[in-house]
Amino acid sequence: MSLDLENLRAPKPTERPDLWPWSAKFADGELTLGGLPVTKLVGQYGSPVYVLDEPDLVGRATVWATVMAEEFWDGYGMGGGSAYYAAKAMMSARVIELVTAAGMGVDTASLGELTTALNAGADPNMIGLHGNNKSDEELRLAISAGERGIARIVIDSADEVARVAAIAEELGRKARAMIRVTTGVHAGGHEFIATAHEDQKFGLSLATGAAKRVALDIQNYESLEFVGVHSHIGSQIRDLDAFSESAGRLLGLVKDLQDEGVACNELDLGGGYAITYTGKDPEPTSPKDIARALASAVRNKCEELGLKVPHVSIEPGRSTVGPTTVTLYRVGTVKEVPLEDGKSRLYVSVDGGMSDNIRPALYEADYTALLANREASSALVLARIVGKHCESGDIVVHDVALPADVKRGDILAVPATGAYGHAMSSNYNMLTRPGTLGVGTGDPHWIIYPEKLSDLLDRDAYLASKN
Ligand code: LLP
Repeated sequence: MSLDLENLRAPKPTERPDLWPWSAKFADGELTLGGLPVTKLVGQYGSPVYVLDEPDLVGRATVWATVMAEEFWDGYGMGGGSAYYAAKAMMSARVIELVTAAGMGVDTASLGELTTALNAGADPNMIGLHGNNKSDEELRLAISAGERGIARIVIDSADEVARVAAIAEELGRKARAMIRVTTGVHAGGHEFIATAHEDQKFGLSLATGAAKRVALDIQNYESLEFVGVHSHIGSQIRDLDAFSESAGRLLGLVKDLQDEGVACNELDLGGGYAITYTGKDPEPTSPKDIARALASAVRNKCEELGLKVPHVSIEPGRSTVGPTTVTLYRVGTVKEVPLEDGKSRLYVSVDGGMSDNIRPALYEADYTALLANREASSALVLARIVGKHCESGDIVVHDVALPADVKRGDILAVPATGAYGHAMSSNYNMLTRPGTLGVGTGDPHWIIYPEKLSDLLDRDAYLASKN
C-alpha cells in the first residue's frame, strides 16, 4: 500500500518539471507561482483560481513556432513550417497577444474565437477557421478580415464550398480554403476526442474519395483559392507514428490532386500532442522531437511520391497552454469514507469542481493535486478530491495520496489545467466561474475576470424584470 501511495503522490516541481509551469517552486514550505506564495495569491484573489504562468506560455509558444520554422526550413529543402495555437484550449486576448508575439498563428472555431483573435491583434494572415457547421456570420467575418481575409477557412463538407464561394463573391474577395480530411487514422485519449476515424461528424473522407471531389470542386469557383489539406487525428496523443501515418495519407491525396493539375501548397497536421497530467504519466516528447519526426515523415513520403515538400503547419492547443496553468482550490469538508476492503478513503471537498474542470467527469481524465500551502509532515493516505456540486461524479482528482492531516482551509494545487479547463467551464449549480490570473510578468493581473454572482443573476430575465 505504501508504494501505491507514493505513486499517487503529486510530484513537486523539482521532481517532475514537466508537470508544472516553469516558475512553480516549493520554497519555504509552500508552493510559489510567478514568485508568489499560493497563500498570498488565494488570500488576495480568492479561490478557486486558475493561475497562468505567462513566461511559461511565451516559452512554449516560442518553442513551437521555432521548431516548426527550423525543421521545415526551406534551407533544409523543405517548404517552411508554422504553428497555429488552437485557441479552443484557452481563449483570451492576453493569451493570443502572448502566443502571436512568440510567432504562432491562431486556429479558431467560432465567431467568438475569431473575433477575440482579431480584436487581440492577431494577423489575419496567420488565422484559421474550423467548424463542421460554420454560420454565415462566421464566414463573413473570416473572409472580410484584414486585406485578404484570414489565411485559411477549413472546409468541412461538400456543401460548404458553394456557401463560402458565394459569400466571398458577395464581398468581392477570394477566400483562402483548405479541406479537412478524415484520414482514417485516429489516436489519443478518450473516444470523444479522437477525430479522424470515419464514423464521426468532422471532415471529408479520404477513403470514399469525398476529400478529392471537394478539392476539385473548389477549383470551379473564381472566388476561392485552394490552399491545401488538413487533418486532425485526436488529442492527448503520444504515438508519433499516428501523425506520420496521417501525414503520409494526406500526401497521397496531394499527389492525386497534383496528377489532376491541382497544386496543394500547404499541409496542416492539426494538434493533439500529449502533456503530463500526473506523476504516473511518461515525460512528453519534446516539440523539437515531434517536429523532427513530422519533418522526416513528410520528407520521405514526398520523396517517394516525387512531390515538392509543401508548407507544413500544426495546431497545438493543449501542449501550448495546458502546463502553464495551476488551479488553486481551498479545502472545505474532509470526510473519511470506509471502503469495502476494510480500508478507507479520505474525501476532500474543494470550493470548485466539475464547473471549473469537467474533464475528469467527461473523459475520466486523471489529474493530481499537491498540498500547496504547507510542507506535509503526516503520513500519506488515499484521498479523492471532489467538488461542491450536487453530483457524485463531481470529481477533481480520482485517486491521490495526500497527508492524513489535510484540513479545512488548506490550499490544493492541481497542475496542468490550462487547456480545456476554463474553456469548458460552466455555471452548473449557479457557481460563478473562476478567473484566470496571469503571473510572472510584473504584478499578477486578471486575464479573465472571475464571474460575480450578479453576472449570473443578471441573465435571469425574470429576476431582471423584478428589479
Ligand atoms: N486543431 C483542431 C482542428 C482541433 O479540433 C483541435 C482540438 C486542435 C487543433 C487542438 O488539439 P490539442 O493540441 O489541444 O490536443 N476537450 C477535449 C479536447 C478536444 C479537442 C478538440 N479539438 C479535452 O479536454 O481533452
